[in-house]
Amino acid sequence: MGRMEGQVAWVSGGASGMGEATAELFAAEGARVAVADVQEERGRDVVNRIVEQGGDAIFLVCDVAQEEQVRGSIEATVARFGKLQTVVNCAGIVHVGCLHEYSEKDWDRLMGVNLKSIFFSLKYAMSHFREHRRSYMVNIGSVGSFVGQAETPAYTASKHAVLGLSRSIALDYAGDGLRCNCICPGITDTPMLRYHLNTTPDPAATLAQRLRRVPTGAVIRPEDVAQAAVYFCSEGSAGITGTSLVVDGGYIAAAEWETSGPTRFTEEP
Ligand SMILES: NC(=O)c1ccc[n+]([C@@H]2O[C@H](COP(=O)([O-])OP(=O)(O)OC[C@H]3O[C@@H](n4cnc5c(N)ncnc54)[C@H](O)[C@@H]3O)[C@@H](O)[C@H]2O)c1
Repeated sequence: MGRMEGQVAWVSGGASGMGEATAELFAAEGARVAVADVQEERGRDVVNRIVEQGGDAIFLVCDVAQEEQVRGSIEATVARFGKLQTVVNCAGIVHVGCLHEYSEKDWDRLMGVNLKSIFFSLKYAMSHFREHRRSYMVNIGSVGSFVGQAETPAYTASKHAVLGLSRSIALDYAGDGLRCNCICPGITDTPMLRYHLNTTPDPAATLAQRLRRVPTGAVIRPEDVAQAAVYFCSEGSAGITGTSLVVDGGYIAAAEWETSGPTRFTEEP
């Protein structure tokens, strides 16, 4: 028996990175999964892989910043699978630059995708959650939910807000059987990380420099985040709501840190 046997989950950002790993692990743990994303080809590939491995999944084109699209995507999930009790908000974007260089449109777009999307998903999933004694929401924050990050002010603000919103959702809907938690990853090997690194003159050197600040010295794998999502979306975490789980190799545990070189975590186990 998988840890999510019988569940139906909607995973935004499920076409890539952590969302992709989460959709795949959820399916392996017995959930039926709706993969919601703007990247159609990649999303369909994820679904095909899940189905090839004996799982059940659908892909839904959905821009999570658009209320009607989130509503439609959640309704399509329920129409296909008959219910919905799990939502993971993984979709996210980053905008690199200092605040004075932003347009209002840049700000609004980022807040729409990273933050308002959570409001929309809760709004349209809640009536379906209430059909179940237990339901689950996981929102992806960041280490930037706790500390400032250079040249990504809107991203950092959005991720602080994701944590606050997750806590508030946990309080308001605990009576309905919903547990809502936030996962806060550190430097994770996904296309978003590579996009961010590629805005610097020497991406490899930038990554090496950042990893010297990480006690384990290693990048987080999308699968590490997916494992945390399974934990929050199953009864192994029954006593936990309104909290955050930092998955960062120790990155924000210390104000100052520099690894002296490779660690055992940078080698294959
Ligand atoms: N990679 C990191 O180092 C890191 C660290 C901390 C937090 N995060 C957060 O993790 C989450 C997942 O990011 P990732 O690193 O896996 O990146 P990713 O780029 O691989 O995945 C993000 C996914 O979100 C989708 N997306 C973007 N805009 C969308 C929209 N409007 N509607 C629907 N889908 C949309 C993308 O198409 C993509 O599939 C994001 O919220 C990100 O902010 C990433």
